[in-house]
Amino acid sequence: MSGSAAQKACVETTPAMERKREVAQAFGEAAESYDRHAVLQRQVADDLAQKITEQGTLEGGGVSCYLEIGCGTGFLGVALEEWLGDTPCLFTDISPPMLEKCRDRLGESLKDAGFAVMDGEAPGLTEQYGLIAASLVFQWFDDLPAAIERLAGCLLPGGRLAFTMLGAGSLGEWCAACEDHGVETGVPSFPSAKELDGLWPTATIGGSGRVEQARVVRRHPSAQNFLHELKAIGARVPDSDHEPRSPGEMRALLREIDGENGEGKNGEGFGVTYEVLYGFFTRDEEL
Ligand SMILES: C[S@@+](CC[C@H](N)C(=O)[O-])C[C@H]1O[C@@H](n2cnc3c(N)ncnc32)[C@H](O)[C@@H]1O
Repeated sequence: MSGSAAQKACVETTPAMERKREVAQAFGEAAESYDRHAVLQRQVADDLAQKITEQGTLEGGGVSCYLEIGCGTGFLGVALEEWLGDTPCLFTDISPPMLEKCRDRLGESLKDAGFAVMDGEAPGLTEQYGLIAASLVFQWFDDLPAAIERLAGCLLPGGRLAFTMLGAGSLGEWCAACEDHGVETGVPSFPSAKELDGLWPTATIGGSGRVEQARVVRRHPSAQNFLHELKAIGARVPDSDHEPRSPGEMRALLREIDGENGEGKNGEGFGVTYEVLYGFFTRDEEL
């Protein structure tokens, strides 16, 4: 291979890498507005924190006990703050501006917290953790089964992986409205609870997992407001093979969905369903 060909080969990006870059950029651009609009995310992080604390104390009080993937501005860390106490923690996110918000929020109050920009799908960690947690992050992963296996492999014996993610049927109303108007949605396909429950790396890592599901319905004044909220929290990158609509086409679509008065059919606004999956995996005590 010539020098320039070798150089080209080094910088070439795959569609998955390109999408990941776009996801990081979109969340980075939304870091300022995230907290004002992330109503669902705050509620889900609080619920996950409650479930985590109900399941008992942290395994292995050694070094770097708590690892958070995709910490965003720190909702889950705040909800776990008291429980974590002086546990060593590492908060990570693929987006530097999101991570900075988390550091601003938790850097002083937690006794032993570190912060690192990291792709949760490729953690490259050498340490093991008593608890690895993530709230509403895994739906952004490119290869979910591989990521779960990799993270489970970063657990101490008896350590736990606890996360939430969007499941099949989420954003169904938006998908149906787009379909009614012959428009592709760009919403990625999310796993069902059953599919997620089939992904535990029991044979390779050793341990057992389970999945819980909760439905949350959010009512927006309009479909336009729903899309605005998605953008304001950074959740705006479509599935990789999606052909984006032009702004004019989007405006026309929203006019059709929201109707003359801009408030949806019969002025009822626009309801959106989120099927939230809770995944819990515990690594075997004996490796
Ligand atoms: C919907 S936000 C959730 C943030 C936070 N966990 C919360 O509950 O508010 C998704 C977060 O995941 C991060 N993220 C997306 N893909 C990621 C990846 N591959 N690795 C690490 N973080 C990722 C985004 O930067 C963003 O901060």
